[in-house]
Amino acid sequence: MCGRVLVAYASKHGSTREIAEEIGRVLRDGGLDAEVAEARLVSDVAAYGAVVLGSALYAAHWQRDANRFVARHLAALRTRPVWLFSTGPLDRSADAGLLPAPPSVAITTDPIGARGHRVFGGRLLADTPGLDPQVLATHPVGDFRDWDAIRAWAAGIAAALVSPAP
Ligand SMILES: Cc1cc2nc3c(=O)[nH]c(=O)nc-3n(C[C@H](O)[C@H](O)[C@H](O)COP(=O)(O)O)c2cc1C
Repeated sequence: MCGRVLVAYASKHGSTREIAEEIGRVLRDGGLDAEVAEARLVSDVAAYGAVVLGSALYAAHWQRDANRFVARHLAALRTRPVWLFSTGPLDRSADAGLLPAPPSVAITTDPIGARGHRVFGGRLLADTPGLDPQVLATHPVGDFRDWDAIRAWAAGIAAALVSPAP
């Protein structure tokens, strides 16, 4: 066992938050003490034995709060098991679980030495408050999150933390 697990996220319109919350639920179901928090509100990760960090992708970049989280906590992240996820593709291209992190994300996160990085499909709602109509004209609307894949990925993290390989 690794102690408490932090699931930190950066989300502009809520869909990444919902993924983080589901990951937290699966970790708790797996017997872990998991806490879900907005990345920008986490001032210290010392209390956590492992971290899951995720961000929505906009223009092929993580959100600033997620990048700042990495910069703020890099020393601590390097000494803990860390898993990363990105959410974004508004199609089924992420479903096979093979999409790499965009280069800008890899540059930010490579120094962590994370155990894994998974890209999940995203969601764009037509009635998103404040959304520029031009965005709706140029981006597919829909919910492309693969909940079974999200739960399976989180269950793998739970298994790795509950029974670490010798
Ligand atoms: C203006 C705009 C730009 C986007 N750029 C990307 C992108 O570069 N790569 C990607 O995979 N998804 C992109 N997306 C899709 C979002 O990442 C997706 O809607 C995601 O689920 C949003 O997460 P959130 O609700 O947590 O903010 C973009 C969406 C919008 C509206």
